[in-house]
Amino acid sequence: MKVFVTGKLSQKAFDALQNFAQVDAYESDDPMPREQVEARLEGKDALVCILGDQVDAALFQKRPQLKLVANVAVGYDNINVADANEAGVLITNTPGVLDNATADLAFGLLLAAARRIVEADGFVRRGEWTGWKRELMLGAELNGKTLGIVGMGRIGKAVAKRARAFGLNIIYTRKCDDAKTDGELKKAFDAQRVSLQDLCKLSDFISINCPLRQETRHLIGKAEFALMQAHCVLVNTSRGAVIDEEAMIDALEQKKIASCGLDVFEREPLVPERLMALPNVVLAPHIGSATKETRAGMDELAVKGLLEAFSGKLPANAVNPDVWNKFAEKLKSKV
Ligand code: GLV
Repeated sequence: MKVFVTGKLSQKAFDALQNFAQVDAYESDDPMPREQVEARLEGKDALVCILGDQVDAALFQKRPQLKLVANVAVGYDNINVADANEAGVLITNTPGVLDNATADLAFGLLLAAARRIVEADGFVRRGEWTGWKRELMLGAELNGKTLGIVGMGRIGKAVAKRARAFGLNIIYTRKCDDAKTDGELKKAFDAQRVSLQDLCKLSDFISINCPLRQETRHLIGKAEFALMQAHCVLVNTSRGAVIDEEAMIDALEQKKIASCGLDVFEREPLVPERLMALPNVVLAPHIGSATKETRAGMDELAVKGLLEAFSGKLPANAVNPDVWNKFAEKLKSKV
């Protein structure tokens, strides 16, 4: 069994993988050029990759012996799952292990934007602080306000848990229409499900926590910004393209919303100049899951799923379990 990894795995995950397979790994932590991924995949049965690696039909056609792709991320919008299904390639992701780290960062960005922490830091460093003033760096208090959570999945719930400790009231949207889950969310967080339009109108703070799919691309656009309150603080730790970035910058420039805390962008690592120029945004380089513990957990889960699949067990973190029979066939025929 031969595996290619587009980066460096944490030691425990790497050791587990190496006990089982012949491992070839990209030597750098930098994003790997696509042609190099294709070249290094020659003769490999599995690929362990990250969210910057694009995986699609062209890759599967070039490397027909590829049977599994383990994406070391919970989001898998970098992978064309329909193409993978067609090619009989099993896809796994890393759900669950990064919920707390991502929710922590969402809260860090929310507090930083609401309390102007980054602006305040620059102010002190530039030597502009002349003494305590009543109106210096006034921000927004969280207690008693309303947080709108767009996407109440695992990460959304971890955000809600933190929000309760800060005295926030919670409203949310979620994809699935099921009264039982809504009842559980009411009980756990006193949270109320609303329409996206109402969420935009009623929220003092908004946190985006839904995955990027065709139906969530530009979910928050010009029409949604028009509904938001002028003091609204918007935080995104999901995927940049869930928000129409141009519309967001317009809304910030025209003061239709107060500020943003952003960990993700539409064309990463590109951050528009207009956004960089705004003092009321806090910017982070997609580090939602970037704690040592979580990154190790993600690598370990990716390797666990891979080892299970190649040992004949459908892993719980398979994104396209329907492809299992095709995968098993491929495994048997030793293509
Ligand atoms: C990070 O963005 C992830 O999807 O895990």
